[in-house]
Amino acid sequence: MRKNDERGRTLIYLDNAATTWPKPEAVYQAVDQCMRKKGANPGRSGHHMALMAGRIINETRGLIAQLFNIPEPSQVIFTSNATEALNLGIKGLLKPGDHVITGTFEHNSVARPLERMREQGIEVTKLPVSLSQGILPAQVEEAVLSNTRLIILNHASNVTGVINPIREIGKIARDKGIVFMVDAAQSAGTLPIDVQAMEIDLLAFPGHKGLLGPQGTGGLYLRENLSLVPLEEGGTGGNSEFLTQPDLCPDRYESGTLNTPGIAGLGAGINYIFQEGLEIIRRKERMLTEHLLMGLEEIPGVIIYGPPRGMERAPVVSFNITGKEPADVSFLLDKMYDIAARPGLHCAPDAHRTLGTFKHGTVRLSFGYFNTMEEVDQCLAAISAIAGE
Ligand code: ALA
Repeated sequence: MRKNDERGRTLIYLDNAATTWPKPEAVYQAVDQCMRKKGANPGRSGHHMALMAGRIINETRGLIAQLFNIPEPSQVIFTSNATEALNLGIKGLLKPGDHVITGTFEHNSVARPLERMREQGIEVTKLPVSLSQGILPAQVEEAVLSNTRLIILNHASNVTGVINPIREIGKIARDKGIVFMVDAAQSAGTLPIDVQAMEIDLLAFPGHKGLLGPQGTGGLYLRENLSLVPLEEGGTGGNSEFLTQPDLCPDRYESGTLNTPGIAGLGAGINYIFQEGLEIIRRKERMLTEHLLMGLEEIPGVIIYGPPRGMERAPVVSFNITGKEPADVSFLLDKMYDIAARPGLHCAPDAHRTLGTFKHGTVRLSFGYFNTMEEVDQCLAAISAIAGE
């Protein structure tokens, strides 16, 4: 796997929580081939090329359904990213007077729409997060009110990698008749997800992270018999005689031309995951994470945030070096060592408040399937050198 950037420099890319890079070769080819050979508008005209474009959409929808054990592919809605999926779920579901339970480790793509909804008369409870175990199910149970309509949590934190006990919380939500929405930004393609076993009603996922697709792709799983107010109205390719938006899923939520080349690439990314095996991918990312943690623990002045070594987590590690700004450390990693990291608040200010790292944040390193142990060793040597300066 070649990892050269546009300058021709060999990068150690450890920013996979933001977007994975590089992508499998098949993803680049699928996007290219779609644009060159199947570049018509899917689901609109009836000619051959339009049908081929429509087939790409259907195939990727089917692969997503298979990966997440979604009973019916038509319950998968394509969006441009996880943020759009989260906005659709939150704003499409809640009404003034509703109560929502969430956590203090949520990304701004959950926290900001909820803040907006708060201004419109929605009540929000933010539960504190255990640094090693995430949100505890008992806390969720205690927080339920008679008007609780939604529980919304991430599967794994993008700051520390801590995993929430989704299955247990899903059961509480189902028993109490509350809608359960999961932000799978850091887990789709990285951790096993089964929407039926986990009792998930709404699953928001990006296409460009663990699923290895291009940026500008993502989606929302919407449980059958649950209806949302769409974020947008417009052309859906069918029911054109009516001025109102159709009720049918996914058409109701997919107005306008879809990102067919991106969705072609996303399909190739998911096929790659099936070929390699999610468990193999997970095991490798876990091994890289453990190796990094072990090395960081040996470097004087390094503070690590998040679950201790040996615990299940997403392949994300946050750390700081005493006396150094995270932005400066990240700058040096990039400039001196060609290592791509992400410093700062990671769009999750509440998480950093909880960690005591607000407002400068931490340096975050995040792994993907194409990272190697040698890269981790080189990164540890670089951090050690920076810490010793
Ligand atoms: N949410 C992405 C991240 O954590 C962009 O970096």
